Amino acid sequence: MQLLRGTKDILPDEIIFWQHIYQTVYNILDLHNYKEIRTPIIESTNLFERSIGSDTDIINKEMYSFIDQGNRNITLRPEGTASIARSFINNKLYAKKKINKLWYMGPMFRYERPQSGRQRQFHQLGIECIGSSNPIADAEVIRLANQILNKLKCSNHKIEINSIGNFEERSLYREKLISYLTPYKDDLDQESQRRLSTNPLRILDSKNDKTKEILSHAPNLQEYLTRESKKHFEEVCEFLNTMDVPYTINNKLIRGLDYYNDTAFEITLNDKSSKDAICGGGRYDTLIQQLGGPKTPSVGWAIGIERLLILIKNSLKLKNHDTLIYIAPIGMKAQTKVWEFIKILEHHKVKFELDLSNDTLKKKIKCAHQLNAQFCIIIGDEEISNNSVALKNLINGEQNNIAITEFNTIIHSIYNT
Ligand code: HAM
Repeated sequence: MQLLRGTKDILPDEIIFWQHIYQTVYNILDLHNYKEIRTPIIESTNLFERSIGSDTDIINKEMYSFIDQGNRNITLRPEGTASIARSFINNKLYAKKKINKLWYMGPMFRYERPQSGRQRQFHQLGIECIGSSNPIADAEVIRLANQILNKLKCSNHKIEINSIGNFEERSLYREKLISYLTPYKDDLDQESQRRLSTNPLRILDSKNDKTKEILSHAPNLQEYLTRESKKHFEEVCEFLNTMDVPYTINNKLIRGLDYYNDTAFEITLNDKSSKDAICGGGRYDTLIQQLGGPKTPSVGWAIGIERLLILIKNSLKLKNHDTLIYIAPIGMKAQTKVWEFIKILEHHKVKFELDLSNDTLKKKIKCAHQLNAQFCIIIGDEEISNNSVALKNLINGEQNNIAITEFNTIIHSIYNT
């Protein structure tokens, strides 16, 4: 049986990185009173269609959708924000608190062409600050992304931000952009030619050199922003300055999801070794209302864990904790007796592995060495009749018989618990 393309097993050796990320993120976000939320992996297809936008890549070609036995149209979530918005409305979270600061970490699904840092099942860590239109909320979430990345030793990143204005400002600009680009249609890259009639603003984000050249004289979205939108953006930038969060303004930055307004941002690597974003986010003031909830301005981001791991794995230098004691009972009687010792190890929180094999003692000891255990506890017929255990030091080879009554004291003195 083969693993599905674009999916990966996360093996025990790698889990320590995931646990480290979870713990680091938990510590930072808990300090800022962000609460963890877990929503289902499956949702109604409709939720994503109504949230992400019908002219986006996710909706057009990347959704894992199916009809279930009850004839419902279901989708494996491609992102977290729509689900959080749904949950916020369903559970009336707005009734309990004016501002809800939420975070999540879990698998997402997009049918993309698999490559390094791009999978079909991937994981996102995301935060959503729901209920504030204040620019300080935008700045706080960006600061948190920066802080989390720094803490995880991903320091070579750059934050790019832009203001994409509100819906009316963008539709006005959209018309201007279409008029400007239409005469150049045949010179645009294929994707941009298609986008000209579906989602022209996304052309601004094109990586194609010729398209970029044409865009260099295109009208600027910023010229179509109202004073209010400009003020919001300026204040976000001012807050970031006072917070000492480094950023650059990129007026061509357009996000691939349609629910954003005003602030949009992405975090990529500084050295251009990969142009894929590690983090993407922005403000989405109309999404919750659009889904049937109250008017609730919000802002958030998501970090792709697999992309982050590629960058930080080497600098984290994490190590699996070694097994300290290997327990080798020989024979049925010893397997019954062994639990008395296990209780003592459990009490002292000393990590152990119980040998479950019918192997010879020699093989059991070899196995203990392979696990890097410091000691091996051997219990055979002789030890049972003497009411003792043999404690073998696997580092210097010394072996001592210890009376059962002394075992607790010895373990306490070795591990100083
Ligand atoms: P997004 O930009 O679509 O935004 O995804 C966020 C991050 O998820 C990306 O920057 C990337 O690191 C990771 N990612 C996306 N697709 C893949 C993939 N196929 N394989 C590996 N990693 C991937 C969102 O999803 C928004 N919900 C973010 C947000 C939260 N906006 C506001 N709140």
